[in-house]
Amino acid sequence: MDRKTLFPLLFAALFSGAAAPLAGQDAPLPPLKEAAKGKFLIGTAVNDWQMAHPDAPEARLISRHFNAIVAENCMKCQSIHPEEDRYDFRAADRVVRFGEENGMFVVGHCLIWHSQLAPWFCKDESGQPVSAEVLRRRMKEHIQTVVSRYRGRVKGWDVVNEALLEDGSYRRTPFYEILGEEFIPLAFRYAHEADPEAELYYNDYGMDVPGRRDAVVRLIRQLKSQGIRIDAVGMQGHMDLDYPTLERFEQSIRAFAAEGVKVMVTEWDMSALPFVTHSANISDTAAYRRGIDPYPDGLPDSVSRRWNGRMRQFYDLFVRHADVITRVNVWGLSDKDSWKNNFPVHGRHDYPLLFDRSLQPKPFVRRLLEEAAAGK
Ligand code: G3I
Repeated sequence: MDRKTLFPLLFAALFSGAAAPLAGQDAPLPPLKEAAKGKFLIGTAVNDWQMAHPDAPEARLISRHFNAIVAENCMKCQSIHPEEDRYDFRAADRVVRFGEENGMFVVGHCLIWHSQLAPWFCKDESGQPVSAEVLRRRMKEHIQTVVSRYRGRVKGWDVVNEALLEDGSYRRTPFYEILGEEFIPLAFRYAHEADPEAELYYNDYGMDVPGRRDAVVRLIRQLKSQGIRIDAVGMQGHMDLDYPTLERFEQSIRAFAAEGVKVMVTEWDMSALPFVTHSANISDTAAYRRGIDPYPDGLPDSVSRRWNGRMRQFYDLFVRHADVITRVNVWGLSDKDSWKNNFPVHGRHDYPLLFDRSLQPKPFVRRLLEEAAAGK
């Protein structure tokens, strides 16, 4: 067989939906979703480019390995509802269609979030905060338009994102300032009315922190006492080489499960770079310095080993709690696409995801696939 014939075939084999050999492997390895089968759904966040190029290697890798999908950005208010009387569903439609075509559990992210909020949402024509009545009406209209459009197709929604602070108080967002605590139950009610079958989630970062953990527990109790549906807590899971501890993360899994909700790891990634901030709040940025971008040409073996070992420890933790953890979702496909390259410092080279910049599985992922192939 000549090169012209061989290369496309090899390429197709590597990235197609069928079990395919990985470089250097004799036997084909199963996909990640096979390794996680019977434990939890394994999902990823997808970006607009991937969805607009369904035949590219990235999209093929996504459909091969994952059985859950969430839009990284295009369902956020600013993207999907940029002006009060204008929605833009084009990118979101592509995500939902791609998920359906590949038999995936499609998650909507996110309905009410202070960040990436369309600028008009909480303000009147003169730029002043709208009244409580107007905001309630806008929230209802926004939530119900988006949820109804994907009724029966998007299976679960991050209804409210990042509303609680580490000390357990409410984040001072426009929603809170105008409506007080009421905005959370309202958002859940509106979403449930629009799709009574859809699962509804509260999603946040830094969920290992005791103050926020307790606040989330209080929130679950409050919603349940009012008869409001909440199915799961999303623990985002933005980690680094030292943060969080397995123990504290596990305590939160137990605390949420004890309230009778499911737990989902919704935005898992692990930075391999020096600590700057543990916030996932996109406005908490810092200036670039070469010293905090130490691995522009690749991760040294020692750091790679540490990263892979720690990722495996967390994966094993999730498996131990697979009775309550129903989905483990990574926040992006490969290192080249990760938001961590630009946060909290713009232009760094980070290594936080399951696939490297050449779309090859990281060592701990390959190991999981080998174990699955061996029936472990
Ligand atoms: O789409 C524009 C593009 O038109 C423009 O040319 C480019 C120039 O910078 O910006 C593009 O928008 C960026 C967008 O990502 C798409 O790439 C925004 O600037 C950037 O702020 C935005 O960042 C996203 C961030 O949320 C804010 O919405 C990240 O990709 C996304 O990973 C991140 O995800 C959040 C979760 O939704 C919630 N939890 C925390 C997590 C990390 O912050």
